[in-house]
Amino acid sequence: MGKDKLKKWAENANFNHVFEPDLQAAVKGVDGEMKGKWSEVFKNDNPITVEFGCGKGEYTVGLAKMYPERNFVGVDIKGHRFWRGAKTAQEENIPNVAFLRTRLEFIERFFEKEEVSEVWLTFSDPQPKDEKGTKRITSPVYIERYKNILKPGSLINVKTDSVLLYDLSKEGYVEKGYDIQIDSRDVYGELVHEVSEELRQALEIKTYYEKRWLSEGKKIHFIQLKV
Ligand SMILES: C[S@@+](CC[C@H](N)C(=O)[O-])C[C@H]1O[C@@H](n2cnc3c(N)ncnc32)[C@H](O)[C@@H]1O
Repeated sequence: MGKDKLKKWAENANFNHVFEPDLQAAVKGVDGEMKGKWSEVFKNDNPITVEFGCGKGEYTVGLAKMYPERNFVGVDIKGHRFWRGAKTAQEENIPNVAFLRTRLEFIERFFEKEEVSEVWLTFSDPQPKDEKGTKRITSPVYIERYKNILKPGSLINVKTDSVLLYDLSKEGYVEKGYDIQIDSRDVYGELVHEVSEELRQALEIKTYYEKRWLSEGKKIHFIQLKV
């Protein structure tokens, strides 16, 4: 085990607002202690946005700075990745940020029905061999799961460099009859010039993976669903 990962895991254990519940308990169907109690974590009833597969947490922290009157939870199975976002939140004293280490397959163990108001999925793995969509975290299999914790009318934002992920996700959304609000194959060349100032600012947050793909000249795609 790399020393760097061990150090980050140890620091995570001491951060406020980092939750790393026992995965086996979730597998067995045991609810996490924060389920239905995120308002106690944040000490307010403000709406909650979650970033699924948050990696280093750039969206979670970036949006939290833009919207102090909302709360943000980054979720990822890799704690050493979101350590970066958790460390920034601690260093910069950002109160409306939390991170949760778990697998998205068990997300209903950690949020109550209608506890969440918005979702971001950024640069998720396309999982080319996953025909049923049981691994691709933007697939309808997962959207149906997310709907169990979302308020009716919530927005799900999917940002990706992957033509495959974009095409497969969109195909699944159309098949399911989901309400696609926004759909673009070129975020920076086209979409940012057409949307509200609020969405433009959100779209311009760039994650670790996004910077890598942009430096290779790739176009960024975006789909927004209302569920
Ligand atoms: C390609 S990375 C993108 C990270 C970040 N959003 C970015 O743009 O830099 C995908 C992330 O999703 C996480 N992930 C993938 N499948 C997951 C699952 N089923 N449950 C939780 N996290 C998952 C991975 O651990 C990884 O950090």
